[in-house]
Amino acid sequence: MSLPERRFLRACRRQSVDRTPVWFMRQAGRYMEEYRALRKRYSILQLAKTPELACEVTLQPARAMPVDAGILFADILLPLEPMGARLRFAPAPVIDNPVRRAADVRRLKDFDVEEGLGCVFSAARLASRALAPRPLIGFAGAPFTLASYLIEGGPSKDFARTKTFMHEQPAAWDLLMRKLRRVTADYLAGQVRAGAQAVQLFDSWIGALSPSQYRRFVLPHSRFVLTAARKTGVPVIHFGTGTAGFLEDFASAGGDVIGVDWRVELSQAWRRVGARGIQGNLDPALLLAPRRELKKAVQDVLRQAAGRRGFIFNLGHGLLPQTPVSSVKAVVEWVHEYSR
Ligand code: CP3
Repeated sequence: MSLPERRFLRACRRQSVDRTPVWFMRQAGRYMEEYRALRKRYSILQLAKTPELACEVTLQPARAMPVDAGILFADILLPLEPMGARLRFAPAPVIDNPVRRAADVRRLKDFDVEEGLGCVFSAARLASRALAPRPLIGFAGAPFTLASYLIEGGPSKDFARTKTFMHEQPAAWDLLMRKLRRVTADYLAGQVRAGAQAVQLFDSWIGALSPSQYRRFVLPHSRFVLTAARKTGVPVIHFGTGTAGFLEDFASAGGDVIGVDWRVELSQAWRRVGARGIQGNLDPALLLAPRRELKKAVQDVLRQAAGRRGFIFNLGHGLLPQTPVSSVKAVVEWVHEYSR
């Protein structure tokens, strides 16, 4: 691999790079015409579970622009199905048999990932070959974010059921988190065996918790997954949103790289997480702003990163579906140009 192709993995390891690497969460998706065309014929679950289609969608953004990595096309909720959840997308995710009591947790199946999620591993094998020499990122949802979907039965604003569950039924919560962390660790290891060269753990909704709730109900379980993922030998990115209030605790759970959102001053993130890589943190809404504002914001992120080793340019959360493709391409170009 030449230097440009290695810049993402080198940055994960805090080695010197020729330019700042850049990729985007949700870089495959509805903002792309090619994706919308496929979605007219297939549901999101069909796309994710058919290896050839998942590979094709993974490649779409990599073909359209020089992003420095591809992320496997799948969804964090896929492992919940073989556990026994009835999952559908409407278009937001819905689980028709949510977890509400201890018996529901006990019923969740402890399945073999090669059997239950083999289609994702096949997709990873195809995509890692097709994307080479650029690296493929595998991913999974973190135990808290997965538990919140299982308990709420879909997205939530206040996470009231999830928080009630953890406080009212702490033993059942603990069992639920243990089941999720085991599946998640195996799932990530399977993706690495299939060719993923880095993995990202998404704790997208963790910012709903207080620092003490995070430490008590979540941290040991995330740490279990991150420690297991580290043993695969590939770099591990630990991403969360709304973590500004407990970034030190969040980072202490693990990860070679910590993913932060725009609510954190990037220049302060290093001081708070210590000797780690940092990924982020442009507000995805800026890609909807006038070009002049977008450019200033990209330059500001790079200025705050200040050429430190271990910086990966990304958004603070996923690309919005209404984002113009031209804005995404412009960001890639500017990141590479201004980080020379
Ligand atoms: O390009 C990529 O980033 C890889 C693919 C990917 C998807 N989902 C595809 C997808 C990844 C990494 C995810 C992760 C995911 N899924 C997360 C964590 C990241 C985040 O955004 O916080 C979460 C919380 C989910 C659950 C999920 N899946 C939601 C809330 C939705 C609905 C979103 C919406 O805007 O309607 C999905 C569906 C989904 N997963 C889409 C895509 C491209 C859109 C579905 C469609 O085509 O209609």
